[in-house]
Amino acid sequence: MRSRRSVLAVPGSNPRFLEKAQSLDVDEVFLDLEDSVAPLAKAQARGNVVKALLEGDWTGKTRVVRVNALETQWTYRDVIEVVEGAGERLDCVMLPKVQDATEVVWLDTLLTQIEKTMGFEVGRIGIEAQIENARGLVNVDAIAGSSKRLETLVFGPADFMASINMRTLVVGEQPPGYPEGDAYHYILMRLLMAARMHDLQVIDGPYLQIKDVEGFTKVARRAAALGYDGKWVLHPSQVQACNEVFSPSQEDYDHAELILEAYEHYTTVEQRGAVMLGDEMIDEASRKMALVVAAKGRAAGL
Ligand code: GLV
Ligand code: MG
Repeated sequence: MRSRRSVLAVPGSNPRFLEKAQSLDVDEVFLDLEDSVAPLAKAQARGNVVKALLEGDWTGKTRVVRVNALETQWTYRDVIEVVEGAGERLDCVMLPKVQDATEVVWLDTLLTQIEKTMGFEVGRIGIEAQIENARGLVNVDAIAGSSKRLETLVFGPADFMASINMRTLVVGEQPPGYPEGDAYHYILMRLLMAARMHDLQVIDGPYLQIKDVEGFTKVARRAAALGYDGKWVLHPSQVQACNEVFSPSQEDYDHAELILEAYEHYTTVEQRGAVMLGDEMIDEASRKMALVVAAKGRAAGL
């Protein structure tokens, strides 16, 4: 599975940002044709994105293009121009504002047709589905199971909050007047369950106050604590914090490796199921928890 701790949004209409993005230490970049691109700049942005994919150095990064949502007139041309033009340099297509499974099936079918026409390997390009409104959330289980190409669900908090009339203008922060607890908990958990049911990753969306790294870190930690795999970053200032939050600490990583080692020894050499490791009792379930942390730590190069 690809690492997606930090997912950088890059407006496809801005060649300077397309250039700069290549130098940032993020796991994924998505070159955007949707909401960060003005309607009159959409056509030109497609050309910029194809050029950036073909000519840029994206070594070490997952390369994604976000096309426009199916409620617009732009989606089919976005997919055809970008995939025909640079499909072999592209890892996934991100589809925003997904409301039901048929939308993902449409994209899957179109990708297959383009791959066949162009002589590309069929099925290599993956899909990322953004959940950004009530209908998408209610249908999220079917969406998560809609295509073998699907690699991750992505929460779109800005559109989501607007679509349900949540009373705040600060994306990701608690709405003023909400007494205690976390107004996002249900939504985040709902996406997480649907994703894990189908072995998908799950990514949290943007935090718009780009100068407030502390605020970003707090909101990112909330998603990481639940088990989210990563979060969007909009600015270089957010990158390091994001990679740190979605990697285990060195201490947790070392502890996870120790559990795996000890458990392996006791179950194979001594043939015991539950054993003591210091003051801690470990068993098969502990091994599974340790595997999750160890896998993330290894991916982060700890
Ligand atoms: C991202 O697309 C969002 O709407 O938050
Ligand atoms: Mg959105």
